[in-house]
Amino acid sequence: MKNILILPGDYIGPEIMAEAVKVLDVLKAEGEPIQWSFGHLGGAAYDAEGHPYPPSTQAAARAADAILMGAVGGPKYDALPREVRPEQGILGIRKDLGLFANLRPALAYEALSAASSFKPEVIAGLDILILRELTGDIYFGSPRGRRENAAGAQEGFDTMHYSVPEVERIAHVAFQAAQKRGKRLCSVDKENVLETSRLWREVMIRIGAQYPDVALSHMYVDNAAMQLVKNPKQFDVIVTGNIFGDILSDEASMLAGSIGMLPSASLDVNNKGLYEPIHGSAPDIAGQGKANPLATILSVGMMFKYSFDRPDIAERIDAAVNTVLAQGHRTGDIAQPGDKVIGTSAMGDAFIAVFKQ
Ligand code: IPM
Ligand code: MG
Repeated sequence: MKNILILPGDYIGPEIMAEAVKVLDVLKAEGEPIQWSFGHLGGAAYDAEGHPYPPSTQAAARAADAILMGAVGGPKYDALPREVRPEQGILGIRKDLGLFANLRPALAYEALSAASSFKPEVIAGLDILILRELTGDIYFGSPRGRRENAAGAQEGFDTMHYSVPEVERIAHVAFQAAQKRGKRLCSVDKENVLETSRLWREVMIRIGAQYPDVALSHMYVDNAAMQLVKNPKQFDVIVTGNIFGDILSDEASMLAGSIGMLPSASLDVNNKGLYEPIHGSAPDIAGQGKANPLATILSVGMMFKYSFDRPDIAERIDAAVNTVLAQGHRTGDIAQPGDKVIGTSAMGDAFIAVFKQ
């Protein structure tokens, strides 16, 4: 039996998660050995238990085989001290569970090419995997804080660092992912300026020697940001550090037409994972039943593929999403002028109708 911990989170989190649970219900009814329970993360956890990653969630997350998360954060919590902001919930669970490998695919759905701000020929057939290191870098480096500098001015400071073992393990994941795809890996860094990046690049080259079938290239992050919009199809797998990956994966999500379409996986060394849509908690549309649940449903697919070793279920979910889009179902984020717009639960139901066939 596989135990799934569901953390709906804040704002649209519970709305999109209700649709993902419909998918789990179908799979369970078909006999898949899964069960699930719910917990709090982010602002919801702060409200209920006074901390964004409370001990009850920590215990449940450590015991679970996989975690499905909605989204956390929002204006209600913006004024809280940084240590208890919802973002610390997601950063805390990533670090606590050692979820160092973050897989963020960027796919161009043909049915949505009109919803993208890119020319169809630039994105047609696009299929990129961004691999973001998730538990190191300036996100977690110390020292960090506020201090008075030599001139007597207040300054804020953070520390960027990567150790050799941290880079080695993400490198192996990246090369192995590339082996299963187009066998091209682009490592993104800022080696012309940062010492951290110099070490990162050295390690990538050294580990690359173990994967002679993968073509390794290197790109500075500023150029990568440009190349992603100029000619995104030049990329197969991109591997990069935590902060560069945060930024580039948001940029790449726009190639797909909507950030509402993209799932992600964050894996530990044993492929235990946390699965979540790439998008945030969308406070502006929360509580209105407008959010697109497809990224969360696709995250269920990634969970079966990576943590439960059932790529067949992932493929079935991907195929059903394609069919639902081809049938013309559109939430607001992927609609064109004149399209009939449906809500979160109607999109979930449209998906289920196809998925059950
Ligand atoms: C993401 C988000 C998070 C991050 C925030 C919510 C802390 O932007 O998952 O990309 O920066 O990693
Ligand atoms: Mg981000």
